[in-house]
Amino acid sequence: EKITISVIKADIGGWPGHHKVHPALIEKANELLAKSKEEGTIIDFHVTYCGDDLQLIMTHKKGVDSEEIHGLAWDTFKEATEIAKELGLYGAGQDLLKDAFSGNIRGMGPGVAEMEITLRRSEPIVTFHMDKTEPGAFNLPIFRMFADPFNTAGLVIDPHMHMGFRFEVWDIMEHKRVILNSPEELYDLLALIGAKSRYVIKHVFPKEGHAIPSDEPVAVISTEKLFEIAGEYVGKDDPVAIVRAQSGLPALGEVLEPFAFPHLVSGWMRGSHNGPIIPVPLKYATPSRFDGPPRVIALGWQINKNGRLIGPVDLFDDVAFDDARRKALEITDYMRRHGPFEPHRLPLEEMEYTTLPGILEKLKDRFEEL
Ligand code: 13P
Ligand code: 13P
Ligand code: MG
Ligand code: MG
Ligand code: MG
Repeated sequence: EKITISVIKADIGGWPGHHKVHPALIEKANELLAKSKEEGTIIDFHVTYCGDDLQLIMTHKKGVDSEEIHGLAWDTFKEATEIAKELGLYGAGQDLLKDAFSGNIRGMGPGVAEMEITLRRSEPIVTFHMDKTEPGAFNLPIFRMFADPFNTAGLVIDPHMHMGFRFEVWDIMEHKRVILNSPEELYDLLALIGAKSRYVIKHVFPKEGHAIPSDEPVAVISTEKLFEIAGEYVGKDDPVAIVRAQSGLPALGEVLEPFAFPHLVSGWMRGSHNGPIIPVPLKYATPSRFDGPPRVIALGWQINKNGRLIGPVDLFDDVAFDDARRKALEITDYMRRHGPFEPHRLPLEEMEYTTLPGILEKLKDRFEEL
């Protein structure tokens, strides 16, 4: 029997500014999801935050894209938004871009990562939650986990994963997808996902012959692009991901290892700047300096045979990531000293959906022919 893990998140108001989620919103979400658990709609849940994004982690038996589950998430965000309004939180309802729910929460503002899986005898998973960045921020770490033997020793030494994996990549501008095989098409894969603002890894699948059925994802990333829905900048699409670990998949430590390198991502300050992503424990998922720098938390879970979520374990709450944090802070200073200059500020093409075009428009008539 299969169970589904759904991580659905939205920024429905920051406290203060874009800093973090107010506890009253978490309390409201807990109350509503507890009711749904009692009624049997969901098996289990956990509510948390990363920066100003409210995170709903749920297990259930209704499959991906379930109207009932998406509706539950939507109603939860809506009700919590009422509290955000009462408290006068910043950008109350920021990510709820449509008025009425029509069956599926995708394309309505919230970010969604879901996978329906056949539980293994033991099912370790990690949910990753990022703030002040965009879905492409997962390209590098997911690639490292499932395709880079210098990260994942198992690709070399474990016969159960030596055949590699399949990557489903979305072109989020053209609304197309392609599946590429690793390691055979490694360079093609990198040609795409290196352009992380456009090509985004959506799923990783096992290959034929793996113990896990080849149509069951082993990783899934939210790929919603808010500007495409809203047509303008409304806060960036702070993404989430679910990754399964062990037994023919990367070990837990191989899943976490990519974050020992605080790579540069976009989405910092007004969604318009590049900066390093810092792996932090939950208590530091509170972007402050220049509204950042970008954060990622990793929550570890075992899913038991009934679909219950045994966790969370705050996986970056470990001294082994201190150097990554220190390095990230050094890079933070270095990037900040560029002020309004690229490549700290994003290139023009990516500024198209920000407030910058308004400034350029004002200067338009001042230009004369050379
Ligand atoms: P243990 O010996 O602690 O179970 O670890 C096994 C392992 O391979 C970890 O990567
Ligand atoms: P959020 O996307 O987390 O709301 O942040 C928006 C922003 O631009 C902060 O400077
Ligand atoms: Mg915000
Ligand atoms: Mg956010
Ligand atoms: Mg954002």
